[in-house]
Amino acid sequence: MAKRRIGVLTGGGDAPGLNAALRAVVKTAILRYGWTVVGFLDGYEGAILGRVCELGLDDVRGLLVRGGTILGASNRANPFWFQHPDLGDTEPRDHSATLIATLERFALDALVVIGGEGSLTIAHRLHQLGVPIVGIPKTIDNDVRGTAQTIGFDTAVTTATDAIDRLHTTAESHHRVMLVELMGRDAGWIALHAGVSGGADVILIPELPFTLERVAAVVHRRRERGRHFTIVAVAEGARPSGGEAVFERTGPLPYQRKYGGIAIALQQQLAQLVPTEVRAVVLGHLQRGGSPTPADRALATALGAAAVDALAQDEQGIMVAVRAHPTGQVTWGIVRVPLAEVARGPRLVPLDHPLLLAARNIGISFGQADEG
Ligand code: F6P
Repeated sequence: MAKRRIGVLTGGGDAPGLNAALRAVVKTAILRYGWTVVGFLDGYEGAILGRVCELGLDDVRGLLVRGGTILGASNRANPFWFQHPDLGDTEPRDHSATLIATLERFALDALVVIGGEGSLTIAHRLHQLGVPIVGIPKTIDNDVRGTAQTIGFDTAVTTATDAIDRLHTTAESHHRVMLVELMGRDAGWIALHAGVSGGADVILIPELPFTLERVAAVVHRRRERGRHFTIVAVAEGARPSGGEAVFERTGPLPYQRKYGGIAIALQQQLAQLVPTEVRAVVLGHLQRGGSPTPADRALATALGAAAVDALAQDEQGIMVAVRAHPTGQVTWGIVRVPLAEVARGPRLVPLDHPLLLAARNIGISFGQADEG
């Protein structure tokens, strides 16, 4: 079927590169295929409530370098469990039919969802209901199954690495242990990459529950060698062996659960075990803000264009993805992955990941009891 009008939305939290992806979708749709593009505001919320804006070439001018998303983001809007006074709701209910009716009202032939694991899982469910949909993976967490990298990850790692570099000089001057808490939810991708790139001495990730005694042992060993400071990169979802992760907020729905607080908790506990002063820094949303790196701009452009190409070839129910590292030497190929694969849950760091193995080889501790 020839497609003439497509909708696009940015789901979940913002990530650097979202605007660059939007720009690529709009430009490809208009310049290559002569289609029109409609943007939904605030993620799935706009698609349910029919809050839209037409997206022309003028609307995406200058977007390549701009962080955030011009369409707005809302990680609370799940069409299968949604509540809004305009819809007469007194409690959350399934509004997927409302969303489908909105797509029909605006005469849209297909929808492009630029989202993380949560938004793309919703996209999969909508596709099962018959919505022609193509996904684009974005999240600083890099935890989307089926792609080697997500839009926003490279920028987050760059920001986090810069922060660790800065912490190094002050930690060394003051002879302190610095714990830096990094985002990532259930996955340790940001902590692993920024920890290695920033030369952290210890990296704590959710995939490898740690023992605090081991972290203390690293601090002691470094002191014996005349190194009176230690840098610990800790993923927000990291937890002690046999213990619990630390949450800033909990709730029955996935978006209500917010990791946060592990660095502060460890600061107090570690201070009991080492003679060195221990300080915690929570990097937080700094990791999501600002202009995307060149690698993220390129990835967003490639995936945005590929999503529209896929629709033009009547593909749907898929996510466009990269299999190889976009900044590496390998030629990267764009692939199409079924949304059903993406919906299988977050992609965690495999314990045989080459970067994790390399980190171990160069003596970085992961807080494991059996480390030498
Ligand atoms: O998924 C991206 C992310 O930044 C996570 O790393 C973090 O746990 C979460 O979103 C924070 O969400 P919010 O901005 O809603 O507090």
